[in-house]
Amino acid sequence: MIIAIDGPAASGKGTLAQRLADHFKLPHLDTGLLYRAVGWLAGQTGQTPAAAAAYLDAADLDNPALRTDEAGQAASKVAAIPEVRVNLLKFQREFAHQASGAVLDGRDIGTVVFPDADLKIYVTATPEARAERRFLELQGKGETADRVAILGQIRERDRRDTERATSPLTRAPDAILLDTTELGLEEQVVLASRWAALAMKPVRRPTLIYSFGSGFTRFFARWFLDFTIQGLDRVPRKGPLIVACNHISFWDPPLVGAHLPREMHFVAKAELFHNPLFGALIRSYNSIPIQRGAKSRSGLRGAEEVLTAGGAVLIFPEGTRNKSGELLQPRGGVGRLAALTKTPVVPACITGSDQIRRSMRRQVRIRVSFGSPVMPPRSENPERDEVRAFARMIMDRIRAMREEQEAKTWK
Ligand code: DC
Repeated sequence: MIIAIDGPAASGKGTLAQRLADHFKLPHLDTGLLYRAVGWLAGQTGQTPAAAAAYLDAADLDNPALRTDEAGQAASKVAAIPEVRVNLLKFQREFAHQASGAVLDGRDIGTVVFPDADLKIYVTATPEARAERRFLELQGKGETADRVAILGQIRERDRRDTERATSPLTRAPDAILLDTTELGLEEQVVLASRWAALAMKPVRRPTLIYSFGSGFTRFFARWFLDFTIQGLDRVPRKGPLIVACNHISFWDPPLVGAHLPREMHFVAKAELFHNPLFGALIRSYNSIPIQRGAKSRSGLRGAEEVLTAGGAVLIFPEGTRNKSGELLQPRGGVGRLAALTKTPVVPACITGSDQIRRSMRRQVRIRVSFGSPVMPPRSENPERDEVRAFARMIMDRIRAMREEQEAKTWK
C-alpha cells in the first residue's frame, strides 16, 4: 500500500501524512527531509550535493537543524539538481519496499517516485492561508515572526519548486485535490483515511456480462465510430469514485463507461427498470435505479452502497438526457451523493454521441474527456445551497471541457 501525498510548502501535507501513517500502521517518509539533509550535509562537509545524496542514510534525518527555514530554502535549491533527485529516488523506493508499504509526502511522489500509488492526494491551500499557519506555528514556538516575510518566502519557494526543470511540483493528473484553506486537520484525516481504506480493498473482477459488454462497446467505438477519448490518466484506479458526465444520448453510459479503466456502475431512472426484460438487461450491466423526487436520500441508496464499498459510479448531474445541446442546470444529486459518501468526483464531458449515424459515416467525431478529481463538499449533511453550489461547480468544469472540445471540432 503506497499513499502519495504531494503539495507546496506549508500546505499541511506532512501532518496529514503522519496521521495517515499512524492510522494504518505504515511507515512515513517525509521526503522533504531528504533534500534538507542533502543541502545540510553538503554545506557541512564540502561535498557536492550529488555526492551527499548518494551516501545519505536514515540517521542523518534526525538532525533538528534540518527543520529550519534556511534548511528549507537550501533544500529547494539542491532539489533542482538532477543527480540529487536520481540518488534520492532510489532511497525513497527502497524505503517503501522494505516495509510492504508506506506513506510518503513531498513534491513528486505521485508523479515520479510512485506513479502507481494506491492513493494520490495533492494538498493545497492559498499562499495566504499557508503563510498564516506557518506564522502561528512559529509564534507558538515563541519565535518572532513576520507575516509579510513568511508570505514572501512561501511564494519564492513555490516559484522555485514549480519552475525547476527536473520533477517540478505538479499535481499528478489522478491526484485528488485536497484544498485545506478551509478544511481542518481532523476533517482532512477523515476524508483521506476513508479513501485509503477503500483503496486498499481488493478489486473484484467484473462479471462476464460486464466484461463482454464493455469489450464490445470499445470494439464498436474503435472500428465503427469516429471516436476519441482523452484524460483517462486523470481517473483514480482505486477507491470510491463518482464520474459526473453531461448527458445527450442513450449511448453515453456505455461509451463513457466502457472506456474507463475500472468497472463502473450506472445510475438510471427507476422508470427504465419497469420493462422486466430491459430492466434485467441493464441491471446485469451494473445499472442501479434511482428514485427521484422528495425521497432523494433513499433514492440514492443503491449508488451509496457501491461507493461505500469503494466502487465507482457514473452519474449525470443534469438528471436527464438533454437533446437541446445546451447544458442544463444540474440537480443537487451529485453533491449530495459525494458529500454523503465522502467521494471524489471526476467531471466528464461527451459530445457528438447524439449523432451516432453521422459518426459512423465519419461526419461527426464523438469526443469524451475527463477532468482531474475534485474533493467532495465539506460536510456530510450539507445544506441545500452547498450541494447546489458543488453541482454547479462540477457543471462549470464540464462546460469548460466542452468548450475545449468544440474549439477542436471547428479547427
Ligand atoms: O517539504 P519541505 O519543505 O521539507 O521540502 C523542502 C524542499 O525540498 C522543497 O522546497 C522542495 C524539495 N523537495 C522536492 O523537491 N521533492 C520532494 N519530494 C520533497 C521536497
